[in-house]
Amino acid sequence: MLFKKSKGFSLIVIAALLFVFSFSAAAQEGEVEIFSWWTAGGEAEALNALIELFNEKYPDVEVINSTVVGGAGFNARRVLKTRMVAEDPPDSFQIHGGEELIDSYVKIKIHGGEELVETYVEASRMEPITALLEEWGIKDKFNQQILEMTAYQGEYYSIPVNVHRSNAVFYNKEVLAENDVEVPTDLEGFKEALASLEEAGVVPLALGDANRWPAAQLFETLLAASLGADAYNGLWNGETDPADPAIREAFVHFKDIMQYVNEDHSELSWFDATKLVHDGKAGFNIMGDWAEGYLKTLGWTPGEEFGWMPVPGTEGTFIFITDTFGLPKDAPNPENAKKWLRVIASKEGQDIFNPIKGSIPARLDADKSKYDPYLTDSMEDFANDTLSPSIVHGSAAPKGFVDALDGTISSFIKTGDLDQAFEDFQINYQEHVK
Ligand code: GAL
Repeated sequence: MLFKKSKGFSLIVIAALLFVFSFSAAAQEGEVEIFSWWTAGGEAEALNALIELFNEKYPDVEVINSTVVGGAGFNARRVLKTRMVAEDPPDSFQIHGGEELIDSYVKIKIHGGEELVETYVEASRMEPITALLEEWGIKDKFNQQILEMTAYQGEYYSIPVNVHRSNAVFYNKEVLAENDVEVPTDLEGFKEALASLEEAGVVPLALGDANRWPAAQLFETLLAASLGADAYNGLWNGETDPADPAIREAFVHFKDIMQYVNEDHSELSWFDATKLVHDGKAGFNIMGDWAEGYLKTLGWTPGEEFGWMPVPGTEGTFIFITDTFGLPKDAPNPENAKKWLRVIASKEGQDIFNPIKGSIPARLDADKSKYDPYLTDSMEDFANDTLSPSIVHGSAAPKGFVDALDGTISSFIKTGDLDQAFEDFQINYQEHVK
């Protein structure tokens, strides 16, 4: 009796264990971990819309939405690199096309010293995805210059989901109108407009560079303004001399413009600064157009409460940023990661994500009716302007240069020492770009 009872009991236990085991195996098969830094207004909503679309297409696959807070990925990249080097990658992750994807490294402390360990494509830690683009028949659906930002030695390594613009200005129409400030058309006019707002007691230009990169991004737009698109592009293929006096001039413009930013700029994040414009406390904000996505989540309609323009002096130049997702070699759920890539590569995915994100699609066949007037303008500029890669968002130059530029700009803000800043720029260039 006792024996019988325990046999029955054992069978129940075994059945229960089998159930738990098969359930957890199924749950594991049904997961995909997506890593990004999209947590702020606009970017989080856009990511959620993509996840919803994925859930509709693949209801059995659970999306683990792993985000690390911090604009432009200043925290996320550290976490990601450590995970990559530890061979513990997420299934797919956000990364900028260009140098950041191809040639990034992390400093690892080893035996009391430091060693540079490469993290992504050059280190063979990513799977090529060219065969997927071919299988899905979509290779030629992308803007080829953008797709090329993911290429290395004849293979593509990630899927571009969007194109952002760094040289964008957003302004509060009411604040400008109330203070009789006309929308400026060149850099000198912009400085005059800033001075008028200052006199009127409004913050002329909202800046939030607590994480440094927004100040460096402001500088990159002024660099494009003073060099012009071709010479700016020439910096990244060795055709432009890093001692070109126009680079010094960009620092001069930067210094002039920094007189007009909010005093607490170094305590605010990019979106705090954008919100100053929304709240009527500031006139202008120079920011990547994810700020447009954010302003919309705050309830604003493009063209009604806010206007936009390229950073004065950069008309005809489109400084681009592309967010892409790839497939790490040790991804725990590679098949599900491919499903994710397929959704973000689709016209439907891009047309759901980008109108919320404040970006335009990387594909050429978007349904234009889904895009608001700002984004329609942006698509037109993208098609007609000279395209220049962003430094700060990882496309133009190696990470070492980007970090060094952050440092140069942040010391320049403190010291105002023009000669030093110009010299630092050249030294960093020789060290990291040449
Ligand atoms: C950029 C990224 C954008 C946006 C922004 C602020 O680097 O490309 O998609 O998220 O950071 O977080």
